[in-house]
Amino acid sequence: MEPGDEVIAFEPYYDSYAACIAMAGGRRVPVTLRADVEEGRFRLDLDELRDAVTDRTRLLLINTPHNPTGTVLTRAELAAIAELAVERDLLVVTDEVYEHLVFDDAEHVPLATFPGMRERTVTISSSGKTFSFTGWKVGWVTASPELVTAVRSAKQYLTYVSAGPFQYAVAEALSLPESYFADFRADMLVKRNLLAAGLEEAGFRVFRPSGTYFITTDIRPLGETDGFAFCRGLPERAGVVAIPNAVFYDHREEGAPFVRFAFCKRTGVLEEAAKQLRAAF
Ligand SMILES: Cc1ncc(COP(=O)(O)O)c(C=O)c1O
Repeated sequence: MEPGDEVIAFEPYYDSYAACIAMAGGRRVPVTLRADVEEGRFRLDLDELRDAVTDRTRLLLINTPHNPTGTVLTRAELAAIAELAVERDLLVVTDEVYEHLVFDDAEHVPLATFPGMRERTVTISSSGKTFSFTGWKVGWVTASPELVTAVRSAKQYLTYVSAGPFQYAVAEALSLPESYFADFRADMLVKRNLLAAGLEEAGFRVFRPSGTYFITTDIRPLGETDGFAFCRGLPERAGVVAIPNAVFYDHREEGAPFVRFAFCKRTGVLEEAAKQLRAAF
């Protein structure tokens, strides 16, 4: 990217995107995922995405499965994004760190597999989510040799190398049998259902995630509208901590009534949280 180039990213977005785009001298152009209560998910408006592309757009930054909404882009949505990228000759970075955390009928399809995408896509994943190695900060990038070289050139002057010894452990983890990934998914599905049911019983509107280990909720059914105030009070009211989704938005008002919970916890902790939330509300 050159200074002033535009990067289109969904909003709400994983917070480090803003910093990464700023450090590259780019301009962030958010496209808002909107709550669809009937479908029970946050949805991408493809027309809005198309309209966001200008002559300065260099990069699409796509995150699926999506943090914090739990949305997994469908095959049709991905095909439309791929068509747009080819038509406007855009590079694409896809953040697929939750690739193994998909539930129900959702499927994760790497964007790089669509026609015309292999040569323009940088696919990123991480050991942090799939192997519960949060904080190890060891991930991997898949792309054409030219794009991998570009990534390495930047990485060279950022952190140079991530946690050398951990990389051997991650290489071992990557050769685990398929059953590991199936068991991991099954375990997290039980946890999703446990926390989602607890939140629903407590009165939240729950957007049951198709992927990730986060649940975005709407607090308006509880008579609340300000996610920041709600999250500040939640530890004292219920002994539970949540994140106000507004922190993941440029247009903070769009995220005001939404609050994110995480279910990557022991079952006993989730049961206790559900009990305390029910009691508090
Ligand atoms: C969407 C998304 N991308 C990337 C990361 C970073 O993953 P790691 O800490 O394993 O580098 C996270 C972690 O929260 C995330 O939610």
